[in-house]
Amino acid sequence: MYTTELDKSPAGQPVTIEDPELLAKFEARVAADDFIEPKDWMPEAYRRTLVRQISQHAHSEIVGMLPEGNWLTRAPSLKRKAILLAKIQDEGGHGLYLYCAAETLGTSREEMIDALHSGKAKYSTIFNYPTLNWADIGAIGWLVDGAAIMNQVPLQRTSYGPYARAMVRICKEESFHQRQGYDLLLEMVNGTPEQKAMAQDALNRWWWPALMMFGPPDENSPNTAQSLRWRIKRETNDELRQKFVDATVPQADLLGLSVPDPDLKWNEERGHYDFGEIDWAEFYAVVKGQGPVAQERMSERRAAWDDGAWVRDAADAHAAKHAARAAA
Ligand code: 3HC
Repeated sequence: MYTTELDKSPAGQPVTIEDPELLAKFEARVAADDFIEPKDWMPEAYRRTLVRQISQHAHSEIVGMLPEGNWLTRAPSLKRKAILLAKIQDEGGHGLYLYCAAETLGTSREEMIDALHSGKAKYSTIFNYPTLNWADIGAIGWLVDGAAIMNQVPLQRTSYGPYARAMVRICKEESFHQRQGYDLLLEMVNGTPEQKAMAQDALNRWWWPALMMFGPPDENSPNTAQSLRWRIKRETNDELRQKFVDATVPQADLLGLSVPDPDLKWNEERGHYDFGEIDWAEFYAVVKGQGPVAQERMSERRAAWDDGAWVRDAADAHAAKHAARAAA
């Protein structure tokens, strides 16, 4: 129940005047850590924020299958190939749970996919970097899935029920993904000097893009404050980034690899690692679609969609046949 558009929110979205009683009830439920469910009343801006975040998250899972898929035919053993296949399939599943969660908010799968393919929707910057050697598969598991877990564990307590519930299974699977990546690198650093050098090279290239996954610094994040108030986000971008650095540096030490940051230093007083400045110009360029392999990713993604048309057609024909039989 809202009337007319009045203003712009900090994220630049139109704001509507909502029924104050419904709004107060909604806010009280969110403040009490109640889950909001699809049939519950919710402010329009809350719904839009969720569709934006959940659909971007789903797109990231789906596009994230591509850099690893490139290595399926070149995995060095049957064991590694089976692990990689399982991981990539999990990512496809994550995308599907998340698209379903977004659909409960009144948006269709077709709209979301169109937005991705037309370049309107965002997906994580991390997937616009190339996978150049086998150690990159380890680095993606360890760092990219590691960063995803750091971000996603708090989302199990996000205020929208279907999103929170999807995150429970996703986090369990991401945890396996992180460990398989770390295990792969552990094997490489204990292999030949060339294998250890490949692992170091992968860390050098993936470290900074992994830190960018958490989004812009809090002072430049247009969405964080409102998303925290609505308990969609439970921690800020900088808080999560710091947690990731603190958890990951000792893991790099254990691998005998050095984190490519001359400013990285344990700060006794803060009880955290200090780390160097992220190249925010690079981050914003990649967000705008100028990542090193952004064009390849999107053309591969569109081709995968076109190649899969026969599967969707077959599923529709099967459903129509069943419906016709049931009607008869
Ligand atoms: N890549 C691309 N876009 C990014 C980004 C990144 N790394 N970080 C921020 N942005 C975008 C935001 O989407 C937002 O754009 P929009 O307003 O047009 O939607 C803009 O930059 C400003 O950022 P904010 O910090 O204000 O935006 P949010 O409050 O939405 O925070 C976020 C960004 C932390 C990424 C948040 O959306 C989030 O937690 N999303 C859910 C998790 C997610 O999407 N993860 C993707 C990681 S990859 C993954 O999970 C796959 C796994 O298999 C590894």
